[in-house]
Amino acid sequence: MSKNTLLTTATGSPVPDDDTSISAGPRGPLTWDNHYTFEKLAHFNRERIPERVVHARGTGAYGTFTLTRSMSEWTIADFLQREGEQTEAFVRFSTVGGGQDSSDYARDPRGFAVKFYTAEGNYDMVGNNTPVFFLRDAIKFPDFIHSQKKNPRSNLPDPAAMYEFWANHPQSLHQVTILMSDRGIPASYRHMHGFSSHTFSFWNAEGERFWFKWHFKTDQGIRNLSPEEAAAMPPFGAQQDLVEAIDRGDFPSWTAKVQIMTEAQARDYHINPFDLTKIWPHGDFPLIEVGRLELNRNVENYFAETEQACFAPSNLVPGIGASPDKMLQGRLLAYQDAHRYRVGVNANQLPVNAARCPVHHYQRDGAMAGCPVAGGNNQGSGVNFYPNDGINAGAPVPEPRVAEPPMPLEEEAWVNRYPVGADEDHYSQAGDLFRWMDDAQREGLARAIAEGLSQASPSVQERMLEQFARADAEYAARVEAALKARA
Ligand code: HEM
Repeated sequence: MSKNTLLTTATGSPVPDDDTSISAGPRGPLTWDNHYTFEKLAHFNRERIPERVVHARGTGAYGTFTLTRSMSEWTIADFLQREGEQTEAFVRFSTVGGGQDSSDYARDPRGFAVKFYTAEGNYDMVGNNTPVFFLRDAIKFPDFIHSQKKNPRSNLPDPAAMYEFWANHPQSLHQVTILMSDRGIPASYRHMHGFSSHTFSFWNAEGERFWFKWHFKTDQGIRNLSPEEAAAMPPFGAQQDLVEAIDRGDFPSWTAKVQIMTEAQARDYHINPFDLTKIWPHGDFPLIEVGRLELNRNVENYFAETEQACFAPSNLVPGIGASPDKMLQGRLLAYQDAHRYRVGVNANQLPVNAARCPVHHYQRDGAMAGCPVAGGNNQGSGVNFYPNDGINAGAPVPEPRVAEPPMPLEEEAWVNRYPVGADEDHYSQAGDLFRWMDDAQREGLARAIAEGLSQASPSVQERMLEQFARADAEYAARVEAALKARA
Protein backbone atom coordinates (compact mmCIF):
# COMPACT_ATOMS: atom_id res chain seq x y z
CA MET A 1 0.00 0.00 0.00
CA SER A 2 1.32 3.49 -0.81
CA LYS A 3 1.37 6.25 1.83
CA ASN A 4 -1.07 8.35 -0.23
CA THR A 5 -4.73 8.68 0.70
CA LEU A 6 -7.10 6.47 -1.24
CA LEU A 7 -8.84 8.22 -4.14
CA THR A 8 -12.60 7.61 -3.94
CA THR A 9 -15.83 8.57 -5.65
CA ALA A 10 -17.99 11.20 -3.93
CA THR A 11 -19.64 8.37 -2.04
CA GLY A 12 -16.41 6.79 -0.86
CA SER A 13 -15.78 3.87 -3.26
CA PRO A 14 -12.13 3.37 -4.22
CA VAL A 15 -11.34 4.56 -7.77
CA PRO A 16 -9.14 2.27 -9.90
CA ASP A 17 -8.04 4.81 -12.57
CA ASP A 18 -8.26 8.60 -12.77
CA ASP A 19 -6.54 9.08 -16.15
CA THR A 20 -8.52 6.95 -18.54
CA SER A 21 -12.19 6.54 -19.33
CA ILE A 22 -13.53 3.13 -20.34
CA SER A 23 -13.92 2.83 -24.11
CA ALA A 24 -14.94 0.22 -26.68
CA GLY A 25 -11.47 -0.57 -27.91
CA PRO A 26 -8.48 1.84 -27.89
CA ARG A 27 -10.00 3.99 -30.65
CA GLY A 28 -13.65 3.42 -29.80
CA PRO A 29 -16.30 5.61 -28.07
CA LEU A 30 -16.85 5.71 -24.32
CA THR A 31 -19.17 3.17 -22.81
CA TRP A 32 -22.19 3.83 -20.53
CA ASP A 33 -20.51 2.30 -17.50
CA ASN A 34 -18.17 5.32 -17.17
CA HIS A 35 -20.11 6.44 -14.07
CA TYR A 36 -16.94 7.83 -12.47
CA THR A 37 -16.15 10.02 -15.52
CA PHE A 38 -19.80 11.13 -15.54
CA GLU A 39 -19.66 11.98 -11.82
CA LYS A 40 -16.59 14.16 -12.40
CA LEU A 41 -18.07 15.98 -15.40
CA ALA A 42 -21.44 16.54 -13.74
CA HIS A 43 -19.91 17.88 -10.53
CA PHE A 44 -17.61 20.15 -12.52
CA ASN A 45 -20.62 21.67 -14.28
CA ARG A 46 -21.96 22.73 -10.89
CA GLU A 47 -18.77 24.19 -9.37
CA ARG A 48 -19.95 27.81 -9.52
CA ILE A 49 -22.53 29.59 -7.45
CA PRO A 50 -23.76 33.04 -8.49
CA GLU A 51 -21.22 35.70 -7.60
CA ARG A 52 -22.36 38.42 -5.20
CA VAL A 53 -24.36 40.98 -7.19
CA VAL A 54 -22.08 43.62 -5.61
CA HIS A 55 -18.80 43.12 -3.74
CA ALA A 56 -18.10 40.04 -5.91
CA ARG A 57 -14.32 40.29 -5.67
CA GLY A 58 -13.04 39.80 -2.12
CA THR A 59 -10.67 38.21 0.35
CA GLY A 60 -11.43 36.75 3.77
CA ALA A 61 -9.52 35.81 6.91
CA TYR A 62 -10.20 34.83 10.50
CA GLY A 63 -9.14 36.79 13.54
CA THR A 64 -9.78 37.87 17.08
CA PHE A 65 -11.63 40.81 18.54
CA THR A 66 -10.32 41.83 21.98
CA LEU A 67 -12.44 44.13 24.10
CA THR A 68 -10.35 46.85 25.74
CA ARG A 69 -13.19 48.73 27.44
CA SER A 70 -16.43 47.36 28.85
CA MET A 71 -19.43 48.79 27.02
CA SER A 72 -21.95 47.79 29.71
CA GLU A 73 -22.86 51.45 30.25
CA TRP A 74 -24.44 51.46 26.79
CA THR A 75 -25.21 47.88 25.78
CA ILE A 76 -26.01 44.42 27.10
CA ALA A 77 -24.24 42.85 24.07
CA ASP A 78 -22.49 39.89 25.67
CA PHE A 79 -19.21 40.20 23.78
CA LEU A 80 -18.88 43.87 24.79
CA GLN A 81 -19.09 43.40 28.58
CA ARG A 82 -15.78 42.09 29.94
CA GLU A 83 -12.52 43.91 29.31
CA GLY A 84 -9.90 41.57 27.83
CA GLU A 85 -12.47 39.07 26.51
CA GLN A 86 -11.74 37.71 23.04
CA THR A 87 -14.28 36.87 20.34
CA GLU A 88 -13.48 34.95 17.17
CA ALA A 89 -14.16 36.90 13.98
CA PHE A 90 -14.21 36.40 10.21
CA VAL A 91 -13.56 39.42 7.99
CA ARG A 92 -14.10 39.81 4.26
CA PHE A 93 -12.74 42.78 2.31
CA SER A 94 -13.95 43.50 -1.20
CA THR A 95 -14.29 45.94 -4.03
CA VAL A 96 -17.87 46.81 -4.95
CA GLY A 97 -18.51 47.17 -8.65
CA GLY A 98 -16.25 44.67 -10.40
CA GLY A 99 -16.88 40.99 -11.03
CA GLN A 100 -14.97 38.20 -9.33
CA ASP A 101 -11.94 38.45 -11.62
CA SER A 102 -11.75 42.25 -11.75
CA SER A 103 -8.83 44.27 -10.37
CA ASP A 104 -8.24 44.77 -6.65
CA TYR A 105 -7.14 48.32 -7.46
CA ALA A 106 -10.27 49.92 -8.90
CA ARG A 107 -11.28 53.37 -7.74
CA ASP A 108 -14.20 52.03 -5.77
CA PRO A 109 -15.27 51.84 -2.12
CA ARG A 110 -13.96 48.77 -0.30
CA GLY A 111 -16.24 46.45 1.66
CA PHE A 112 -15.23 45.85 5.27
CA ALA A 113 -17.45 43.07 6.64
CA VAL A 114 -16.85 41.59 10.09
CA LYS A 115 -18.61 38.55 11.53
CA PHE A 116 -18.26 38.27 15.32
CA TYR A 117 -18.99 34.73 16.54
CA THR A 118 -20.36 35.76 19.96
CA ALA A 119 -21.73 33.56 22.74
CA GLU A 120 -25.19 34.97 21.97
CA GLY A 121 -25.10 34.40 18.22
CA ASN A 122 -23.37 35.91 15.22
CA TYR A 123 -23.15 39.68 14.96
CA ASP A 124 -22.23 41.06 11.53
CA MET A 125 -20.93 44.56 10.89
CA VAL A 126 -21.22 44.86 7.11
CA GLY A 127 -19.50 48.17 6.44
CA ASN A 128 -17.24 49.95 3.99
CA ASN A 129 -13.96 51.87 4.12
CA THR A 130 -15.93 55.13 3.92
CA PRO A 131 -17.99 56.71 6.71
CA VAL A 132 -20.87 57.66 4.39
CA PHE A 133 -22.65 56.26 1.33
CA PHE A 134 -24.04 57.66 -1.94
CA LEU A 135 -27.71 57.27 -1.07
CA ARG A 136 -30.36 57.72 1.61
CA ASP A 137 -33.12 55.34 0.50
CA ALA A 138 -32.82 51.62 -0.36
CA ILE A 139 -35.22 51.98 -3.29
CA LYS A 140 -32.40 53.69 -5.22
CA PHE A 141 -29.73 51.02 -4.73
CA PRO A 142 -30.43 48.86 -7.83
CA ASP A 143 -30.48 51.93 -10.13
CA PHE A 144 -27.30 53.25 -8.58
CA ILE A 145 -25.47 49.92 -8.99
CA HIS A 146 -26.69 49.53 -12.59
CA SER A 147 -25.22 52.95 -13.37
CA GLN A 148 -21.85 52.01 -11.83
CA LYS A 149 -21.47 48.56 -13.38
CA LYS A 150 -21.03 47.75 -17.04
CA ASN A 151 -23.05 49.21 -19.91
CA PRO A 152 -25.84 46.78 -20.92
CA ARG A 153 -24.85 46.87 -24.60
CA SER A 154 -21.08 47.21 -24.69
CA ASN A 155 -20.41 45.37 -21.38
CA LEU A 156 -17.79 48.05 -20.72
CA PRO A 157 -17.46 50.39 -17.74
CA ASP A 158 -19.54 53.48 -18.43
CA PRO A 159 -18.34 56.71 -16.71
CA ALA A 160 -21.04 58.69 -18.53
CA ALA A 161 -23.74 56.60 -16.80
CA MET A 162 -22.01 56.96 -13.42
CA TYR A 163 -22.00 60.73 -13.64
CA GLU A 164 -25.52 60.84 -15.09
CA PHE A 165 -26.71 59.09 -11.92
CA TRP A 166 -24.70 61.41 -9.67
CA ALA A 167 -25.85 64.52 -11.57
CA ASN A 168 -29.41 63.55 -10.72
CA HIS A 169 -28.57 62.78 -7.07
CA PRO A 170 -26.80 65.62 -5.26
CA GLN A 171 -27.13 63.48 -2.12
CA SER A 172 -24.18 61.44 -3.52
CA LEU A 173 -21.79 64.41 -3.59
CA HIS A 174 -20.14 63.75 -0.23
CA GLN A 175 -19.32 60.13 -1.09
CA VAL A 176 -18.30 61.07 -4.67
CA THR A 177 -15.82 63.53 -3.15
CA ILE A 178 -14.37 60.77 -0.96
CA LEU A 179 -14.25 58.29 -3.83
CA MET A 180 -12.46 60.70 -6.19
CA SER A 181 -10.05 61.85 -3.47
CA ASP A 182 -6.63 60.33 -2.86
CA ARG A 183 -8.35 57.77 -0.60
CA GLY A 184 -10.22 56.38 -3.62
CA ILE A 185 -7.70 53.58 -4.30
CA PRO A 186 -6.39 51.98 -1.07
CA ALA A 187 -2.91 50.45 -1.44
CA SER A 188 -4.08 47.29 0.33
CA TYR A 189 -6.91 46.01 2.52
CA ARG A 190 -4.55 46.33 5.49
CA HIS A 191 -4.04 50.05 4.98
CA MET A 192 -7.59 51.35 5.19
CA HIS A 193 -10.17 52.08 7.88
CA GLY A 194 -13.57 50.38 8.23
CA PHE A 195 -16.87 52.01 9.15
CA SER A 196 -20.40 50.81 9.85
CA SER A 197 -21.37 54.05 8.06
CA HIS A 198 -24.95 53.51 9.25
CA THR A 199 -26.20 54.39 12.69
CA PHE A 200 -27.13 51.39 14.83
CA SER A 201 -28.58 51.17 18.34
CA PHE A 202 -27.22 49.94 21.63
CA TRP A 203 -29.44 49.31 24.62
CA ASN A 204 -28.35 48.74 28.18
CA ALA A 205 -29.68 46.78 31.16
CA GLU A 206 -31.87 49.76 32.18
CA GLY A 207 -33.56 49.66 28.77
CA GLU A 208 -31.98 52.97 27.66
CA ARG A 209 -31.25 53.24 23.94
CA PHE A 210 -28.20 54.96 22.39
CA TRP A 211 -27.39 55.49 18.71
CA PHE A 212 -23.89 54.57 17.60
CA LYS A 213 -21.53 54.17 14.66
CA TRP A 214 -18.51 51.85 14.34
CA HIS A 215 -15.05 53.05 13.27
CA PHE A 216 -12.23 50.53 12.75
CA LYS A 217 -8.97 52.49 12.46
CA THR A 218 -6.14 50.69 10.71
CA ASP A 219 -3.06 50.19 12.91
CA GLN A 220 -0.95 49.85 9.74
CA GLY A 221 -1.61 53.48 8.77
CA ILE A 222 -3.48 54.71 5.71
CA ARG A 223 -1.80 54.07 2.35
CA ASN A 224 -3.25 54.82 -1.04
CA LEU A 225 -2.19 54.50 -4.66
CA SER A 226 -2.15 57.14 -7.38
CA PRO A 227 -4.07 56.14 -10.54
CA GLU A 228 -0.71 55.53 -12.26
CA GLU A 229 0.53 53.27 -9.44
CA ALA A 230 -2.79 51.40 -9.40
CA ALA A 231 -2.65 50.77 -13.15
CA ALA A 232 0.74 49.09 -12.72
CA MET A 233 -0.44 46.68 -9.99
CA PRO A 234 -1.26 43.00 -10.61
CA PRO A 235 -5.06 42.53 -10.46
CA PHE A 236 -4.93 40.19 -7.44
CA GLY A 237 -2.36 42.20 -5.49
CA ALA A 238 -4.54 43.15 -2.50
CA GLN A 239 -5.57 39.55 -1.95
CA GLN A 240 -1.94 38.42 -2.22
CA ASP A 241 -0.85 41.17 0.20
CA LEU A 242 -3.31 40.05 2.88
CA VAL A 243 -2.73 36.30 2.51
CA GLU A 244 1.05 36.71 2.55
CA ALA A 245 1.07 39.12 5.52
CA ILE A 246 -0.95 36.63 7.60
CA ASP A 247 1.14 33.67 6.42
CA ARG A 248 4.34 35.36 7.56
CA GLY A 249 2.83 36.25 10.96
CA ASP A 250 2.56 39.99 10.26
CA PHE A 251 -1.01 40.12 11.55
CA PRO A 252 -2.91 43.26 10.53
CA SER A 253 -5.05 44.94 13.17
CA TRP A 254 -7.58 47.72 13.60
CA THR A 255 -8.47 49.74 16.70
CA ALA A 256 -12.24 49.60 17.14
CA LYS A 257 -13.99 52.80 18.22
CA VAL A 258 -17.57 54.02 18.45
CA GLN A 259 -19.37 57.34 18.35
CA ILE A 260 -22.39 57.45 20.61
CA MET A 261 -25.44 59.75 20.57
CA THR A 262 -28.25 59.68 23.13
CA GLU A 263 -31.89 59.56 22.01
CA ALA A 264 -32.39 63.08 23.40
CA GLN A 265 -29.39 64.40 21.42
CA ALA A 266 -30.71 62.70 18.29
CA ARG A 267 -34.03 64.53 18.56
CA ASP A 268 -32.40 67.99 18.52
CA TYR A 269 -29.20 67.49 16.54
CA HIS A 270 -28.98 69.67 13.41
CA ILE A 271 -28.03 66.64 11.27
CA ASN A 272 -30.47 63.77 10.79
CA PRO A 273 -28.55 60.99 12.59
CA PHE A 274 -30.12 58.40 10.26
CA ASP A 275 -28.92 60.08 7.06
CA LEU A 276 -26.22 57.80 5.63
CA THR A 277 -24.79 60.58 3.46
CA LYS A 278 -23.60 62.54 6.52
CA ILE A 279 -20.95 61.98 9.17
CA TRP A 280 -21.32 62.92 12.83
CA PRO A 281 -18.58 65.51 13.46
CA HIS A 282 -16.06 64.10 15.94
CA GLY A 283 -16.05 67.39 17.86
CA ASP A 284 -19.67 66.78 18.81
CA PHE A 285 -19.45 62.99 19.15
CA PRO A 286 -15.89 61.95 20.03
CA LEU A 287 -14.52 58.51 19.25
CA ILE A 288 -14.52 56.09 22.18
CA GLU A 289 -11.98 53.25 21.95
CA VAL A 290 -13.50 49.84 22.66
CA GLY A 291 -11.28 47.10 21.27
CA ARG A 292 -8.84 45.69 18.79
CA LEU A 293 -9.50 43.48 15.79
CA GLU A 294 -6.60 41.33 14.60
CA LEU A 295 -6.53 39.03 11.58
CA ASN A 296 -4.34 36.01 12.24
CA ARG A 297 -5.54 32.98 10.23
CA ASN A 298 -6.04 32.47 6.52
CA VAL A 299 -8.83 30.33 5.20
CA GLU A 300 -8.02 26.74 4.26
CA ASN A 301 -10.39 26.75 1.29
CA TYR A 302 -11.33 29.99 -0.46
CA PHE A 303 -14.61 28.75 -1.93
CA ALA A 304 -15.93 26.96 1.15
CA GLU A 305 -15.10 29.81 3.50
CA THR A 306 -14.72 33.17 1.74
CA GLU A 307 -16.99 32.62 -1.26
CA GLN A 308 -19.76 31.04 0.79
CA ALA A 309 -19.43 33.52 3.69
CA CYS A 310 -22.77 35.21 4.27
CA PHE A 311 -22.76 38.58 6.03
CA ALA A 312 -26.05 40.29 6.86
CA PRO A 313 -26.72 43.61 8.62
CA SER A 314 -29.72 41.80 10.15
CA ASN A 315 -27.41 39.41 12.02
CA LEU A 316 -27.76 41.27 15.31
CA VAL A 317 -27.39 40.17 18.93
CA PRO A 318 -29.18 41.27 22.12
CA GLY A 319 -28.00 44.79 22.96
CA ILE A 320 -27.40 45.84 19.33
CA GLY A 321 -30.27 46.85 17.05
CA ALA A 322 -30.88 48.60 13.76
CA SER A 323 -31.98 52.24 13.39
CA PRO A 324 -34.61 54.00 11.28
CA ASP A 325 -31.97 54.68 8.53
CA LYS A 326 -33.92 54.04 5.29
CA MET A 327 -30.92 52.41 3.61
CA LEU A 328 -30.26 50.12 6.53
CA GLN A 329 -33.92 49.09 6.62
CA GLY A 330 -33.63 47.89 3.00
CA ARG A 331 -30.43 46.05 3.81
CA LEU A 332 -32.17 44.14 6.60
CA LEU A 333 -34.08 42.36 3.83
CA ALA A 334 -31.54 42.29 0.98
CA TYR A 335 -28.70 40.22 2.42
CA GLN A 336 -30.44 37.14 3.77
CA ASP A 337 -32.50 37.09 0.60
CA ALA A 338 -29.26 37.18 -1.43
CA HIS A 339 -27.85 34.31 0.64
CA ARG A 340 -30.87 32.10 0.06
CA TYR A 341 -30.40 32.60 -3.68
CA ARG A 342 -26.61 32.57 -3.83
CA VAL A 343 -25.73 29.86 -1.29
CA GLY A 344 -29.02 28.26 -0.28
CA VAL A 345 -31.70 28.35 2.36
CA ASN A 346 -29.46 26.58 4.86
CA ALA A 347 -26.41 28.79 4.25
CA ASN A 348 -26.14 29.44 7.98
CA GLN A 349 -25.33 25.77 8.61
CA LEU A 350 -22.03 26.05 6.72
CA PRO A 351 -19.05 26.15 9.06
CA VAL A 352 -17.99 29.73 8.17
CA ASN A 353 -21.50 31.01 8.80
CA ALA A 354 -22.55 28.74 11.67
CA ALA A 355 -22.86 30.28 15.12
CA ARG A 356 -20.32 29.07 17.68
CA CYS A 357 -23.12 28.88 20.29
CA PRO A 358 -26.00 26.35 20.28
CA VAL A 359 -28.71 27.05 17.68
CA HIS A 360 -32.29 25.91 18.37
CA HIS A 361 -35.28 26.92 16.28
CA TYR A 362 -38.33 25.61 14.46
CA GLN A 363 -37.07 26.15 10.89
CA ARG A 364 -36.73 22.83 9.06
CA ASP A 365 -35.71 21.12 5.83
CA GLY A 366 -34.69 22.74 2.53
CA ALA A 367 -31.69 21.96 0.34
CA MET A 368 -28.72 20.53 2.28
CA ALA A 369 -30.58 20.48 5.61
CA GLY A 370 -28.97 18.16 8.09
CA CYS A 371 -25.90 17.54 5.98
CA PRO A 372 -23.07 16.89 8.47
CA VAL A 373 -20.69 18.79 6.18
CA ALA A 374 -23.06 21.71 6.54
CA GLY A 375 -22.84 21.42 10.29
CA GLY A 376 -26.48 20.67 11.10
CA ASN A 377 -28.73 17.73 11.90
CA ASN A 378 -31.93 19.56 10.90
CA GLN A 379 -32.72 19.87 14.65
CA GLY A 380 -32.79 16.08 14.97
CA SER A 381 -35.98 14.58 16.44
CA GLY A 382 -36.91 17.86 18.19
CA VAL A 383 -40.49 19.09 17.97
CA ASN A 384 -40.97 21.25 14.84
CA PHE A 385 -43.81 23.60 15.84
CA TYR A 386 -44.27 26.33 18.42
CA PRO A 387 -45.80 26.55 20.98
CA ASN A 388 -45.72 22.91 21.96
CA ASP A 389 -46.31 20.77 25.01
CA GLY A 390 -42.64 19.78 25.05
CA ILE A 391 -41.65 23.24 26.25
CA ASN A 392 -41.34 22.05 29.86
CA ALA A 393 -39.15 19.21 28.61
CA GLY A 394 -36.56 21.53 27.05
CA ALA A 395 -37.99 22.60 23.67
CA PRO A 396 -36.76 26.04 22.51
CA VAL A 397 -38.59 29.04 24.01
CA PRO A 398 -38.11 32.78 23.41
CA GLU A 399 -36.42 34.94 26.05
CA PRO A 400 -38.34 38.22 26.54
CA ARG A 401 -35.34 39.65 28.43
CA VAL A 402 -33.50 40.19 25.16
CA ALA A 403 -36.27 42.24 23.51
CA GLU A 404 -35.23 45.64 22.20
CA PRO A 405 -36.80 48.53 24.14
CA PRO A 406 -39.79 50.08 22.31
CA MET A 407 -38.69 52.73 19.80
CA PRO A 408 -40.60 56.03 19.72
CA LEU A 409 -41.50 57.29 16.26
CA GLU A 410 -41.68 60.99 15.56
CA GLU A 411 -44.92 62.61 16.69
CA GLU A 412 -47.55 62.67 13.96
CA ALA A 413 -45.57 60.16 11.87
CA TRP A 414 -47.89 59.82 8.88
CA VAL A 415 -47.27 56.84 6.62
CA ASN A 416 -46.27 58.41 3.31
CA ARG A 417 -43.39 58.86 0.87
CA TYR A 418 -41.02 61.63 2.00
CA PRO A 419 -38.76 62.72 -0.86
CA VAL A 420 -35.46 64.49 -0.14
CA GLY A 421 -36.33 68.21 0.21
CA ALA A 422 -35.09 70.75 -2.36
CA ASP A 423 -33.47 72.76 0.46
CA GLU A 424 -31.55 69.74 1.77
CA ASP A 425 -27.89 70.43 2.55
CA HIS A 426 -25.90 67.90 0.49
CA TYR A 427 -23.02 70.32 0.17
CA SER A 428 -21.56 71.49 3.51
CA GLN A 429 -19.83 68.24 4.45
CA ALA A 430 -18.52 67.70 0.89
CA GLY A 431 -17.22 71.30 1.00
CA ASP A 432 -15.64 70.74 4.43
CA LEU A 433 -13.82 67.72 3.05
CA PHE A 434 -12.60 69.71 0.03
CA ARG A 435 -11.36 72.55 2.27
CA TRP A 436 -9.57 70.01 4.48
CA MET A 437 -7.48 68.83 1.48
CA ASP A 438 -4.13 70.40 0.63
CA ASP A 439 -3.35 71.81 -2.78
CA ALA A 440 -2.05 68.56 -4.26
CA GLN A 441 -5.05 66.62 -2.97
CA ARG A 442 -7.48 69.16 -4.46
CA GLU A 443 -5.68 68.87 -7.79
CA GLY A 444 -5.79 65.06 -7.69
CA LEU A 445 -9.50 65.17 -6.86
CA ALA A 446 -10.25 67.49 -9.79
CA ARG A 447 -8.23 65.33 -12.18
CA ALA A 448 -9.90 62.09 -11.05
CA ILE A 449 -13.35 63.65 -11.50
CA ALA A 450 -12.49 65.12 -14.89
CA GLU A 451 -11.33 61.75 -16.19
CA GLY A 452 -14.84 60.28 -15.94
CA LEU A 453 -16.91 63.46 -16.17
CA SER A 454 -15.28 64.42 -19.46
CA GLN A 455 -17.05 61.41 -20.99
CA ALA A 456 -20.50 62.57 -19.83
CA SER A 457 -22.92 64.83 -21.72
CA PRO A 458 -22.65 68.65 -21.44
CA SER A 459 -25.86 68.72 -19.37
CA VAL A 460 -24.46 66.19 -16.87
CA GLN A 461 -21.20 68.16 -16.67
CA GLU A 462 -23.14 71.36 -16.01
CA ARG A 463 -25.22 69.82 -13.21
CA MET A 464 -22.12 68.31 -11.60
CA LEU A 465 -20.31 71.66 -11.74
CA GLU A 466 -23.31 73.27 -10.02
CA GLN A 467 -23.05 70.70 -7.24
CA PHE A 468 -19.30 71.28 -6.81
CA ALA A 469 -19.89 75.05 -6.73
CA ARG A 470 -22.46 74.70 -3.96
CA ALA A 471 -19.88 72.76 -1.94
CA ASP A 472 -17.06 75.25 -2.63
CA ALA A 473 -16.48 77.69 -5.50
CA GLU A 474 -12.86 76.53 -5.78
CA TYR A 475 -13.99 72.90 -6.07
CA ALA A 476 -16.02 73.75 -9.19
CA ALA A 477 -13.28 75.97 -10.62
CA ARG A 478 -10.68 73.23 -10.27
CA VAL A 479 -12.89 70.58 -11.90
CA GLU A 480 -13.77 72.98 -14.72
CA ALA A 481 -10.08 73.68 -15.33
CA ALA A 482 -9.30 69.95 -15.28
CA LEU A 483 -12.10 69.33 -17.80
CA LYS A 484 -10.73 72.04 -20.09
CA ALA A 485 -7.25 70.55 -19.85
CA ARG A 486 -8.60 67.26 -21.19
CA ALA A 487 -10.68 68.84 -23.99
C1 HEM B 1 -29.94 49.57 0.34
C2 HEM B 1 -28.66 49.52 0.10
C3 HEM B 1 -27.92 48.24 -0.13
C4 HEM B 1 -28.33 47.05 -0.65
C5 HEM B 1 -29.71 46.69 -1.16
C6 HEM B 1 -27.18 46.16 -0.65
C7 HEM B 1 -27.19 44.86 -1.11
C8 HEM B 1 -26.12 44.01 -1.09
C9 HEM B 1 -26.13 42.65 -1.57
C10 HEM B 1 -27.33 41.95 -2.19
C11 HEM B 1 -24.90 42.14 -1.36
C12 HEM B 1 -24.42 40.73 -1.71
C13 HEM B 1 -24.62 39.85 -0.50
C14 HEM B 1 -24.25 38.43 -0.75
O1 HEM B 1 -24.51 37.92 -1.85
O2 HEM B 1 -23.71 37.79 0.18
C15 HEM B 1 -24.11 43.14 -0.71
C16 HEM B 1 -22.83 42.97 -0.29
C17 HEM B 1 -22.17 43.88 0.52
N1 HEM B 1 -22.61 45.14 0.89
FE1 HEM B 1 -24.34 45.97 0.41
N2 HEM B 1 -26.11 46.81 -0.11
C18 HEM B 1 -26.51 48.09 0.21
C19 HEM B 1 -25.75 49.08 0.78
C20 HEM B 1 -24.54 48.87 1.39
C21 HEM B 1 -23.87 49.81 2.25
C22 HEM B 1 -24.40 51.19 2.61
C23 HEM B 1 -22.73 49.20 2.68
C24 HEM B 1 -21.68 49.69 3.61
C25 HEM B 1 -21.88 50.61 4.53
C26 HEM B 1 -22.69 47.87 2.08
C27 HEM B 1 -21.69 46.95 2.28
C28 HEM B 1 -21.66 45.70 1.70
C29 HEM B 1 -20.56 44.78 1.86
C30 HEM B 1 -19.29 45.00 2.68
C31 HEM B 1 -20.89 43.64 1.12
C32 HEM B 1 -20.02 42.40 0.94
C33 HEM B 1 -20.25 41.45 2.10
C34 HEM B 1 -19.35 40.24 1.95
O3 HEM B 1 -18.12 40.44 2.04
O4 HEM B 1 -19.86 39.15 1.71
N3 HEM B 1 -23.80 47.71 1.31
N4 HEM B 1 -24.86 44.30 -0.58
